[in-house]
Amino acid sequence: MRSNVLVTGGAGFIGANFVRHMMESTEEVKIIVLDSLTYAGNLDNLSGLNAARLKFVKGDITDASLVESLFEKEKIDAVVNFAAESHVDRSILGPAAFVETNIMGTFVLLEAARKAWNSPEALESARFVHVSTDEVYGSLGETGYFTEETPYSPNSPYSASKASSDHLVRAYFHTYGLPVLTTNCSNNYGPYQFPEKLIPLMVLNALEGKPLPVYGDGKNVRDWLYVTDHCKAIEAVLDRGRLGETYNIGGRCEMQNIEIVNLVCSEVDFLVELDEGLALRYPYEEPRKALIKYVTDRPGHDRRYAIDCQKIETELGWKPEVTFEEGMKQTIEWYVTNRSWWEAILSGEYLKYYDEQYGNRG
Ligand code: NAD
Ligand code: DAU
Repeated sequence: MRSNVLVTGGAGFIGANFVRHMMESTEEVKIIVLDSLTYAGNLDNLSGLNAARLKFVKGDITDASLVESLFEKEKIDAVVNFAAESHVDRSILGPAAFVETNIMGTFVLLEAARKAWNSPEALESARFVHVSTDEVYGSLGETGYFTEETPYSPNSPYSASKASSDHLVRAYFHTYGLPVLTTNCSNNYGPYQFPEKLIPLMVLNALEGKPLPVYGDGKNVRDWLYVTDHCKAIEAVLDRGRLGETYNIGGRCEMQNIEIVNLVCSEVDFLVELDEGLALRYPYEEPRKALIKYVTDRPGHDRRYAIDCQKIETELGWKPEVTFEEGMKQTIEWYVTNRSWWEAILSGEYLKYYDEQYGNRG
């Protein structure tokens, strides 16, 4: 068991869910969150957690002197690296930040770990878990699955930057014996996901009667996993994974985008119909499917992702627990209930509040 875990990007969607999960599943681990609070980082995601076991540091993973001093001061013996620019559409509009954070940031973290864990004992007990994506494998045709042996073939600036960081991580194992592990996961959904991603965007737009933009023909396929299942998989890899290995993580749940959007529409219609307060707040006369609008496709849009997660299932005994039906119900209800969370985001208020506390975002 590690004592002082550095969670980078812990104020983002999956990072915050992971911190919450670790606070529940462990009793003594101290968590140090390092997050630069980009537009996607939000301290509301960490609210209500036990401050004695959680330290938040606002800072950039590309800042080598800050990262090195944190390793020393906090006696970091494990890293879980979530910090990244994560949105494919943004990487198409502006790839530079993706190269900087995803590649250079990972490099800085690896170097700091290499310097700090400089004895056989430290190398024996420490762990560096790099959280990556299935998008590094490129796009599938109608059949087949990504396995850990699938050659890398990234298609977007986002996936190319993640692929590059994965290669650095691998190289640090082979060259320096750094105790690294990499996870490549499929699409996550659940509470605290920034409303630029497909599911929360569709939920909020459906509630508010705004257009639901479906890219291309809507038949691109993604493999969906509820975020707490991803967090449990990462914990298993941190605790029991074999050093230098990569583990694919997925939900065995392939869905076309249009199927998801239709499901969101029906579920939102159902919830609003049941509740007079919601019906008054979100008036919309027609079935919400009428809001669907097919729009120009994403450039280079990968057609299909599907993960073979046999390795983590058989080696580490992990498997997805939350069904898509249950996860979607919980997720949609979470967004309906936590209106103040997303209103602060949509209005930009959450940025202002934390800028006052921690200074302006670069
Ligand atoms: P997110 O965009 O919600 O959160 C990213 C977090 O990283 C934010 O809190 C942001 O402030 C922080 N950050 C960004 N740049 C930083 C920097 N230079 N220094 C410090 N902090 C910085 O992302 P997410 O969806 O939670 O994804 C987390 C990780 O999981 C990413 O590495 C992503 O590639 C990977 N991943 C995501 C998914 C998914 O479906 N969302 C699936 C597989 C893998
Ligand atoms: O596969 C894992 C990846 O999943 C992660 O590595 C990324 O960080 C994460 O953002 C996600 O990438 P995607 O591009 O698959 O997710 P996104 O939510 O942006 O889009 C999901 C699908 O929905 C994709 O086929 C594009 C489509 N889409 C998306 C948006 C935002 C639409 O049709 N309309 C939209 O408005």
